[in-house]
Amino acid sequence: MTAHAPDLTLEPSPGRNAPIPGVTSPEKPLAVVPAVDGVTTSDAVLYTYKRAPGEMVRGEGVYLFDTEGKRYLDFVSGIAVNALGYADPGLVAALHAAADGLVHVSNLYETSPAPRLAAALVERSFADKVFFCNSGAEANEGAFKFARRWARTVGEVKHEIVALRGAFHGRLFATLAATDRPGYRLPFRPLAAGISISERNLEDLAAALDGETVAALILEPVQGEGGVRVLDGGFVRELRALTKERRIALIFDEIQCGLGRTGTLFAYERFGVEPDILTLAKPIAGGLPMGAILLTNEIAQTIKAGDHGTTFGGGPFVSSVALHVVQRLSDPSLLAAVRENGAWFGRQLEEIGRRTGRVRAVRGVGYMWGIDIMGTASHVVDAAREAGLLTCTAGDCTVRLLPPLVTTREELALGLDILEQVL
Ligand SMILES: Cc1ncc(COP(=O)(O)O)c(C=O)c1O
Repeated sequence: MTAHAPDLTLEPSPGRNAPIPGVTSPEKPLAVVPAVDGVTTSDAVLYTYKRAPGEMVRGEGVYLFDTEGKRYLDFVSGIAVNALGYADPGLVAALHAAADGLVHVSNLYETSPAPRLAAALVERSFADKVFFCNSGAEANEGAFKFARRWARTVGEVKHEIVALRGAFHGRLFATLAATDRPGYRLPFRPLAAGISISERNLEDLAAALDGETVAALILEPVQGEGGVRVLDGGFVRELRALTKERRIALIFDEIQCGLGRTGTLFAYERFGVEPDILTLAKPIAGGLPMGAILLTNEIAQTIKAGDHGTTFGGGPFVSSVALHVVQRLSDPSLLAAVRENGAWFGRQLEEIGRRTGRVRAVRGVGYMWGIDIMGTASHVVDAAREAGLLTCTAGDCTVRLLPPLVTTREELALGLDILEQVL
């Protein structure tokens, strides 16, 4: 050791509640504390969500149970994640089998589950290639990068991304710029540049989609957070024709509406058009975090090694569980049930609206419905939860219903009864 070598002796580690020099010491130690409204909470968690009272401990089928043993019929399904419900025996077996294999080895080495999952998605869709990541926002961020990479091979200044009024694409910087929620955006400006929101009509979009500068248009075939709005088929087909003519990549964000939720494996199947890029997440891995970007060869071949990356994306554990989920959600009888029961469910919601006089509008398809109510949606969500039905909001006035895709008509009827009483 030279005379000038730094002293690498470690300082004794301070206790977790020891004061940090220059920082005001916490008044009370970190702990799990019951809050006044009965919510078990922790002062160590940074809460960015308003949590409902109580604590969920168990799930079975379409039901969740809290610590008090109270049973809830779950028409939130983890915000469109738990398509197979809770404790599904096939999913549990797939999780156990996956845990017996490799969990993670990094993307420096090949493992077989991700290629098998990619092949299953390619076989069932318009896509030629799939990139795996870890969430919905991450899938959309990657889709923007892939679209820009491709577009620059088409035109030097082609890089703009256009999203629609009412869109929700995530909360990272680029996806936030494509998300039409002023409250989510304003505190974080400046957002990523080159991303704008257009009104949801052909005239405005024809003006916004400049073939010289625009790389991609992103849309949700069924807008979820924006109030459950099924885009009009003719409108989507016109946008497909326009983007093709102007060589603009069309990205479908099917993170919420894809993988069976609308009664077809992919929502685009309803519209008779195919996108160039499609993003998936939520239900794909049965509750494990995973996102996927499906794309055509034309775009994929412009993406080179090093253009994008992820440590966890497409790991063997999550991919083998996702393969099970994708196979299950491709089952024609499950999809037919979602279509038929979903149409029935929508008619019942209309009836409830007429009977109660508390509903302004009913929108949706398959197992994805929104009802605009007179008053504040969160009041209905709170009252429904008290009565044993879990629902969520989509904006201030819309109550959103996202039952697991395995929900039977009898279970749907039970939920409708509770909702009607609450309204
Ligand atoms: C349509 C859509 N896109 C993107 C996202 C973002 O997904 P994540 O929360 O996994 O980042 C969501 C989440 O609600 C979504 O509904």
